[in-house]
Amino acid sequence: MVRAFTPETIDPSVVDGLIDLARRAPSAGNSQGWAFVVLEGASQTARYWDVTLPPERRVDFRWPGLVAAPVLIVALVRPETWVDRYAEPDKASAGLGGREQEWPVPYWWVDGGMAVEHLLLGAVEAGLGACFFGLFDHEEAVLAALGVPAGWRGVGTVALGHPAPDRPGRSQGRGRLPLADIVHRGSW
Ligand SMILES: Cc1cc2nc3c(=O)[nH]c(=O)nc-3n(C[C@H](O)[C@H](O)[C@H](O)COP(=O)(O)O)c2cc1C
Repeated sequence: MVRAFTPETIDPSVVDGLIDLARRAPSAGNSQGWAFVVLEGASQTARYWDVTLPPERRVDFRWPGLVAAPVLIVALVRPETWVDRYAEPDKASAGLGGREQEWPVPYWWVDGGMAVEHLLLGAVEAGLGACFFGLFDHEEAVLAALGVPAGWRGVGTVALGHPAPDRPGRSQGRGRLPLADIVHRGSW
């Protein structure tokens, strides 16, 4: 994850290419109940930051270079799309076509994450930097500010741009767990 960006813009066709990768992600039942709100340029990204990081909090924000990102992509999912898909005859035996609360694993979050990861990998491949971050308690306000219709939920936001000198994220010191700690062959 990159949390500081230069002001250099990104060609919209590059952004389209990244979202084209995202839409190729796997999704349960090929439901594809996702959408992406793209904010390009300072006047559009300000509509996001004004909600989530008002000026009085911006002065001592740990990553001021994040706010400079020329592009923000808000990833959205519509849970009902998955529920409707699983009400179709070929999925009926799964018993998930009723209410979203009945899903032991809500695949809209899984699939939304897979789509975002495609986008992140594509960004690195394109020589760009990106950071995924959550909407937390701003979800409702951000979706309202962006005119997102009812029924959609926010997976999170990807800031995208050309990397600038950065400071590491707070979780960076945790490193990567070694394979031996996470792989359990044959049984746990
Ligand atoms: C679901 C999720 C939520 C995250 N939320 C944030 C966030 O709110 N702020 C942030 O700076 N980084 C966030 N990150 C980035 C992680 O901190 C980062 O991926 C992790 O520390 C590993 O670092 P690396 O991706 O740079 O290798 C998030 C990552 C994921 C997958």
